[in-house]
Amino acid sequence: MLDIRFEKTTAPKQIPGKEDPLTFGTIFTDHMFIMNYETGKGWHDARVVPYQPIVLQPSAMVFHYGQEMFEGLKAYKTAEGKTLLFRPDKNIERANRTNERICIPTIPEEDFLQAIKAVVKADEAWIPEKEGTSLYIRPFIIATDPFLGVRPSDTYMFIIILSPVGAYYPEGLNPVKIWIEDEYVRAVKGGIGEAKTGGNYVASLKSQVKAHDAGYSQVLWLDGVERKYIEEVGAMNIFFKINGTVVTPMLNGSILPGVTRDSVIALCKEWGIPVEEKRISIDDIFEAAHNGTLEEVWGTGTAAVISPVGHLRWGEHVMQVQDGGIGPVSQKLYDTVTGIQTGKVEDTLGW
Ligand code: COI
Repeated sequence: MLDIRFEKTTAPKQIPGKEDPLTFGTIFTDHMFIMNYETGKGWHDARVVPYQPIVLQPSAMVFHYGQEMFEGLKAYKTAEGKTLLFRPDKNIERANRTNERICIPTIPEEDFLQAIKAVVKADEAWIPEKEGTSLYIRPFIIATDPFLGVRPSDTYMFIIILSPVGAYYPEGLNPVKIWIEDEYVRAVKGGIGEAKTGGNYVASLKSQVKAHDAGYSQVLWLDGVERKYIEEVGAMNIFFKINGTVVTPMLNGSILPGVTRDSVIALCKEWGIPVEEKRISIDDIFEAAHNGTLEEVWGTGTAAVISPVGHLRWGEHVMQVQDGGIGPVSQKLYDTVTGIQTGKVEDTLGW
């Protein structure tokens, strides 16, 4: 159990109005959580303080070798005014798996949850209530030793910031156009692809820019060895519905184990829709698109929840899905996941 000190802001900011449009990740609330780590001392000095800049040495290790991790989860307000978190235990578990992978000291799960709850409670008034909005919670840890050699840091900062958000993609629930990337790769087995760390996201930028320049929203990643098997889409997991069966790439070491991915698999099972986690080649998708069995394609992630895909480009080939519209399973998943998150749909799965 953490002993969390609370320093309330003396200069509260303007909370966005009920009808103000919200984009993603541009507005930050009044407070943040911080806790420090030092070898020998462990995690200590837990506090909720006014949202403010942090001071680091230019030599801080995070700037040079990227020893950092982050998570993303959301808080919602129910119609009755209750605050809900969606499956925070899954994010906390994954955070510690990331920590293990990149040599950051883990945080006891109950302390992690206590920290999230403390800062969300402090800024509860910032949770937006309009359809499609939420309070995005961004926990992260950075290596702070002022040192230029390559080794795990002995000091860290664990910070949680909060941002009231709307849709992640400007398209919202409208299907996005996807560029199938066959030049660059996101991650390889044995690397850090299944960890939530900045390195995976910087690796994606070059092809994201390339796709944007060509008029596409995101890229579809193929495996790093054969450039043949499907891995992820943009910063999300990917699902296909082919001839009545929902398929998604199985977790293989280079794919991020998404919380929304896990939730979508559980819901499909609950509804009796056959769902398989397996290796899926781009040729399988191409064939399904051409014989008319590719029924739906969607991405899953905390930020966008469900993001339907309407169009895929693979070199010279173009595959159109659902005539570019949103499919019934994608829509039902979006309605159910967001319904559970906001307390409108009964949560039979204990999320
Ligand atoms: C997600 O929640 O889908 C993400 O990974 C997006 C995040 C990098 C903003």
